Amino acid sequence: MKNIKAIIFDAYGTLFDVNCAAKKCKDKIGDKWEGFANYWRTTQLEYTWLRSLMKRHIDFWRITEDSLDKSMKAYEIDYSMRTELLDLYKVLSPFEEVPDVLKSLKEKNFKLAILSNGTPALLNELVKSNKLDNLFDDLFSIEEVGIYKPDSKVYDMPIKKYKIQSNEVVFLSANTWDVSGGGNYGYNSIWVNRNNNIFDNLDYKPQNEIKNLNKLIDII
Ligand code: LAC
Repeated sequence: MKNIKAIIFDAYGTLFDVNCAAKKCKDKIGDKWEGFANYWRTTQLEYTWLRSLMKRHIDFWRITEDSLDKSMKAYEIDYSMRTELLDLYKVLSPFEEVPDVLKSLKEKNFKLAILSNGTPALLNELVKSNKLDNLFDDLFSIEEVGIYKPDSKVYDMPIKKYKIQSNEVVFLSANTWDVSGGGNYGYNSIWVNRNNNIFDNLDYKPQNEIKNLNKLIDII
């Protein structure tokens, strides 16, 4: 890829493992922990899309709480675990390769940023608790534009701040719909396909698909 000025990452599911809050409680939750974690994540995303369509925005933390409450009911999880699960969600771990890959990219002088549905406070805590805070130039939160991905106002943010063109951005997401959102906007979107998933039919096919971030260094 040529003329790339900024490398922008989605946060949840791409850099940070959204399933690790429930996984850390698997002794208490039992075998259903993974189904529960997936249901929580799917409900959380549905709420972002639905609230954007209904024009009833609330921030991502409240959506995370609301979707957890529904998921705990659906999976009959003891309500006493609510605080523990939410506290763990604030300090999700990065995938294994993430710190080293970010360090190598930083040495190559790309602008590095996160572009996420998360609130500024959540994103700050995520990078600080994982000692990644000195690696990013910016943590772009959708709270600045008050609407969730994949609205184009979200993908506009880094373009406006860095005064660059959309095709000078490499955007990475593990979320297929977010890859399509960024790609339809004009980014060079790369799909981080960690779990051998199937891509969407949403008018965009990524030029590159990688299993984890290690391969990124060879592409750019
Ligand atoms: C985010 C969600 C989409 O970080 O993973 O924006």
